[in-house]
Amino acid sequence: MIYLPTCHSTNDIAAELVHNGGAEEGTVVITDNQVNGRGQRGSTWYTEPSSNLTFSVILKPNFLPVAEQFLISQVIALAIYDYFSFYTSQVKIKWPNDIYISDKKISGTLIENSIKGSTISNSIVGIGININQINFSTPRSTSLAQILGYPVSLHTEFPKLIHFLDARYFKLKSMKQVAAIRSEYLNKLYGYQQSVRFFYQNEIVDGVITDITNSGKLCVKLKGQEKVHEFGLKEIEFLWDN
Ligand code: BTN
Repeated sequence: MIYLPTCHSTNDIAAELVHNGGAEEGTVVITDNQVNGRGQRGSTWYTEPSSNLTFSVILKPNFLPVAEQFLISQVIALAIYDYFSFYTSQVKIKWPNDIYISDKKISGTLIENSIKGSTISNSIVGIGININQINFSTPRSTSLAQILGYPVSLHTEFPKLIHFLDARYFKLKSMKQVAAIRSEYLNKLYGYQQSVRFFYQNEIVDGVITDITNSGKLCVKLKGQEKVHEFGLKEIEFLWDN
């Protein structure tokens, strides 16, 4: 574990370690004050200093072909889901790997993979989890303290989370179980087999999430259309994404 009181982005520090060849699988970079956090789709991840869990884990999933890289996203989302399930039954995964509780975002993950030949040589799994932050710039965010009604210790929560991450990753590595992971992920996915509202091509559309592809595309049957569309991350947005 590498603890930095302050840093720009734990994903960037982890990438430097990987680049310099000095990172073993399981290395964690964790900070109390991330000043230039990065999110998905080029967004910024702002987190209040010393209030939340902000870290990156270096994995070396060279047992996974490139075509199966979405399995990493799935098992990480399931592990964070497991962690929050200890506290509440209102947990959902929001595609691809956000975690929501009662329709509010509590955790975001930015996974950056590097490829060697046909397999994934390094995966930097950057996780931001709202633990004790109370004030957010959007009403669509929440924290564990808001849900419980009292603050909790980051020192106590972090090992619990690592336990679930470790267990899910170990299972992927030892047994793979692609079909089981997919069905568990779908069962916990927000909007699965339900009507959800999206922005698509500058319009508001309703659609039902029917599946995910092996590469992680979201399969959506748009209202009034027979065809099931496959959407990548930049092609569709949930209506309340921001
Ligand atoms: C998202 O929801 O858009 C993903 C947010 C990911 C944030 C985490 S915090 C730790 C790690 N370092 C970063 O710069 N980003 C990730």
